[in-house]
Amino acid sequence: MTDTSTRTSAPPGLTTTKSPFIEMAREDGRLYIDQPYDLYTDANHDVWRRLYARMGDRWQRYANRRFLEGLETLQLNPERVPRLEDVNRFMAPLTGFRAKAVSGYVPAYVFFDCLRKREFPTTITIRDGEVLDYLPEPDIFHDISGHVPMHTDPAFADTLVRFGECARTAAERARDMPAAERIRRLSSVIKAMARFFWFTIEFGLMKGSKPGEVKAYGSGLLSSYGELAHCIESDEVQRWPFQLEWVVNQYFEIDHYQPLLFVVDSFDHLFDEVGRLVEWVKAGRLDNVSPGEPEIGEADLASFLEAAGLG
Ligand SMILES: [Fe+2]
Repeated sequence: MTDTSTRTSAPPGLTTTKSPFIEMAREDGRLYIDQPYDLYTDANHDVWRRLYARMGDRWQRYANRRFLEGLETLQLNPERVPRLEDVNRFMAPLTGFRAKAVSGYVPAYVFFDCLRKREFPTTITIRDGEVLDYLPEPDIFHDISGHVPMHTDPAFADTLVRFGECARTAAERARDMPAAERIRRLSSVIKAMARFFWFTIEFGLMKGSKPGEVKAYGSGLLSSYGELAHCIESDEVQRWPFQLEWVVNQYFEIDHYQPLLFVVDSFDHLFDEVGRLVEWVKAGRLDNVSPGEPEIGEADLASFLEAAGLG
């Protein structure tokens, strides 16, 4: 018989997938919540400290300049899980973006519409210390240290807002689709938007200041110790100039390092590409993108239909 009495197991606190506070919020149907800061345990703070400490050198080496500036602006405490209200105080005067605590998955339209309102749905739990590199779902390290420093940049912030406007355009357009075709076509548009978001905001690369140099600005890269180096250094990664027609038709898988990434010139370039995405939604050019990942869940579809007044 195994003696488990001496085995170290983290007290629940706000550990990802093990937090009674989050489970209760979900059971009650509360998506938007407060960050109950006192619930973070010493183990939770220690995980933040370990994650943050090992990223420092890699960020300096591989991160986009605007990310590093944003990190400096936010003045995150390397030792403690951040308070969202502190983060928002630094961010508000720069772009008006604010991190908004959520209890779990935010359906696609609701998520994009938050961006339109300059709100960023933010996970408040932190991963288990025994699995620093494995993420069953996003956590506060991914959301705050991967995403939020970029939100201090006006051009990047405007790009996120434009993405929210794209979702609104897609919902409005769904009203004009033939009823028999609506679900299929709208699913295709959402799939295209999800792919665009994935290959830019989550896993985007950008040209650096020196010829041939490439830097990371995607949050999935910036919050991953292993993949941040891999995405820049490895010869197993294809890095192509951003091409909208390719991106919206390209499936992706989330459970391994990305073998294919796209490079934008600048955040102004990215902003323009979202503008093209909006035009493509209007012109029906996203109604029949290639099948494959990601699959569009019922909650995502329902959120768009509801926004269109068709729910
Ligand atoms: Fe993310």
